[in-house]
Amino acid sequence: MRALDGRVAVVTGGASGIGRATARRFVDAGASVVVADRDGDGAERVAEELGDAAVAGTVDVTHPAQVDAAMALAESRFGRLDVLSCNAGLATSPTPALDADPDEFARVLAVNVTGQWLCVRAAVPAMRRAGCGAVTITGSVMGERARPGFGAYAASKAAVNHLAKVLALELAPDGIRVNCLAPVATDTPMLKSFLGPDDPERARAAFIAGIPLGRLAEPEDIADAAVFLASDAARFLTGVVLPVDGGRAI
Ligand SMILES: NC(=O)c1ccc[n+]([C@@H]2O[C@H](COP(=O)([O-])OP(=O)(O)OC[C@H]3O[C@@H](n4cnc5c(N)ncnc54)[C@H](O)[C@@H]3O)[C@@H](O)[C@H]2O)c1
Repeated sequence: MRALDGRVAVVTGGASGIGRATARRFVDAGASVVVADRDGDGAERVAEELGDAAVAGTVDVTHPAQVDAAMALAESRFGRLDVLSCNAGLATSPTPALDADPDEFARVLAVNVTGQWLCVRAAVPAMRRAGCGAVTITGSVMGERARPGFGAYAASKAAVNHLAKVLALELAPDGIRVNCLAPVATDTPMLKSFLGPDDPERARAAFIAGIPLGRLAEPEDIADAAVFLASDAARFLTGVVLPVDGGRAI
């Protein structure tokens, strides 16, 4: 028996990086997956790679109707929904907080906070019908440990850590668990934003120097933790922010 046999998951941000690796690991663990992403072509490519256990959905997590449609797709295609993995996210290049562009600041919060809330809100009715649920929101080590240059991003990640705790309390009576993953710098396309345009190699070395285990995270490091949190092995964990960070948060 595999960890997620018979489960049905929606994975947002599933076209790339951590979401893509999570969709793969979920299917390997026995789940069926809706690969949901604003990048519809990318989501299609990932779903094709994964075969019959996956279907793609073009979803901007800031658009409530599109989010509702992604959750409905899980039930119409696979019969139920019991796992939600929220990975859709937006990062910006390092900029002092007071120099941030107001529209960009608002957009980061809209995707990284409001978008996650909309996804959970849309998934819960189906999870109630399924009789159980596991939600994992991908936050960041920056949600706990500040770093200069990432005001909007760090604020958004601190916000989802706390949002997950509130949701964990509110949804516990339904048997729905809500947890956060807090990755350190991870080798995905988003990393380029964190490194900035000036001297990316130097920035990369600086990130690695702050990680006790001595390397960046790989998307699969985070995806394996997502499988754990979605599985019955984590049946008594809710409201947890789990660092997956090689010791960075210590
Ligand atoms: N890469 C890192 O260093 C790192 C570290 C900590 C946390 N994270 C978090 O992990 C999550 C995944 O990041 P990643 O590194 O895989 O990045 P990525 O850029 O590889 O993937 C992000 C995906 O989200 C999608 N997306 C962006 N906005 C969207 C929207 N409005 N609606 C739907 N999809 C949208 C993109 O199309 C993309 O496919 C993000 O929440 C990110 O903040 C990343």
